[in-house]
Amino acid sequence: MLQKTPPRRDLRTRTPGGASARRNADEAVARLAWWQKAVFYQIAPLSFQDTDGDGKGDINGIIQRLDHLEWLGIDAVWLCPIYSSPMLDFGYDMVDFCAVDPLFGSLADFDRLLAELHGRGMKLILDFIPNHTSDQHPWFTESRSSRENPKRDWYVWADPGPDGGPPNNWLSRFGGSAWEWDHGSGQYYYHAFLKEQPDLNWRNRDVRRAMADVLRFWLDRGVDGFRVDASAVLAEDELLRDDPPDPKFDAETTPPPQRLTRVFTDDRPESLDYLEELRAVIDEYPDRVLAGEVQGKTNRIGHFYGNDRPRFHLPLNFALLDAKWNAVALQAQIDAYYNAIPDHAWPDWVIGGHDKKRLASTIGKAQARVAAMLALTLKGTPFFFAGDEIGMEQVPIPPDRIRDPFERLVPGYGLNRDPERSPMRWDSGPHGGFTTGEPYLPMGDDVERRNVRTLKDDQRSLLWLYRRLIALRRATPALTAGDHRPLRSRNDILRFERALADQRVLVALNTSPQPRRLDIAGTANLLLSTNLDRDGETIRGATMLRADEGIILALDA
Ligand code: NOJ
Repeated sequence: MLQKTPPRRDLRTRTPGGASARRNADEAVARLAWWQKAVFYQIAPLSFQDTDGDGKGDINGIIQRLDHLEWLGIDAVWLCPIYSSPMLDFGYDMVDFCAVDPLFGSLADFDRLLAELHGRGMKLILDFIPNHTSDQHPWFTESRSSRENPKRDWYVWADPGPDGGPPNNWLSRFGGSAWEWDHGSGQYYYHAFLKEQPDLNWRNRDVRRAMADVLRFWLDRGVDGFRVDASAVLAEDELLRDDPPDPKFDAETTPPPQRLTRVFTDDRPESLDYLEELRAVIDEYPDRVLAGEVQGKTNRIGHFYGNDRPRFHLPLNFALLDAKWNAVALQAQIDAYYNAIPDHAWPDWVIGGHDKKRLASTIGKAQARVAAMLALTLKGTPFFFAGDEIGMEQVPIPPDRIRDPFERLVPGYGLNRDPERSPMRWDSGPHGGFTTGEPYLPMGDDVERRNVRTLKDDQRSLLWLYRRLIALRRATPALTAGDHRPLRSRNDILRFERALADQRVLVALNTSPQPRRLDIAGTANLLLSTNLDRDGETIRGATMLRADEGIILALDA
């Protein structure tokens, strides 16, 4: 059944159809925009690399670590907020959208980072936070100064309800009423998140103009696009109607802010109009991308691509993070997602992020390798979070070191996002080489074993798997640009094909901790195994997948 052939010297797949088929495949890849081919790497600057000893990462730290990104084969970076901020919510509370917080460095440092990335052939997209500002933002200071202030209408103000309390029952995502009383001006203001993060009023044209100018400010500096934060909550119901209770809520387990169905605060049609305006700004510049956090269920995600008027290029898709991790559930999630997006839409797959529990903890270290293979072989743009490539797990946070306001305000439901934000580990030295000071979050107790330097020395590590997968994806047109062909998953093996011109690639992922037999029609050449020890094997008819093993096969056309 198995025959050993000498290891392949490079990762290029064969093209049995010869030169013209190869040309067709290459042309299909060349027709894609850069962001369709790119592998995105998310960096939370606070948690990446500190250079000034304050225990918090900075822009110079990112510059210092660009060799790592290049070695991995990253094409594009999504950088979490670097803007001037009191940092109550990890920088998602800005006092100035067009200034770099001194904690991270200066605008000159930013320009240097952008130039360095571009010099290495990588792109940079920034987080753009349109929904709210910090309550310290000069716009809000003006707005709250009096009801007559010209900026009053830049935020969402309302009179008390009939009982003298908040105008309605809307809840902040971070706990409690979404309305905060402002004594000075005698009204409530709305905040979807912290009370220190008042919502901007997107119905106001001047707000929209000002925010469009923020985009232009960064686009003029050369950034390649944005990830739009909380884009589904830009507008709320104008009539201020109460949200109904969620019939599925469970008093024991549902966190209080999630006990209403957000009919009147989320996903309002006006928000989609505003996203079209943002996209129009992006389209003033050639070759930029707009990705967005849409918080939508799979059945809503299609709307965020737009129709005659485009919205996002890439509404971010968390289906893999939210899926039950077994072959049958995954094949259903994948299918539901592909069916939910419009025909012209380009898919994307997110397997990590600063708000999401690390996969290495939720599905385990062994399946984290399978997840990497899945995300890097499915049709669509993959996104992962710095640290995923070394299998970082949720780091326990003692109560006195909790930073996340979410956990402080809604304790006891496992909502703390600090565990996934624990700093990156670069080597086995003190604090993993992240800082010479005291890291702002605990580093975890496996730093010595699990860090970039140590895993780089082991050519079968997860880190190497990421590198090999990215290289294989780039070298294999069917994986970059090919169609997705679903296959029926059986025997705990998630299976699908990618096909382009005369290339057919089969991906088979054993989601069980037991060996499983995989049958194939004909012969195939094994391009990569998650265990990184089988490439070059020829498979005839069938093979055994070891526990938690995924493989990529080049099939005979
Ligand atoms: C979504 C961001 O990803 C999250 O980290 C933040 O707390 C909220 N938006 C509020 O900005």
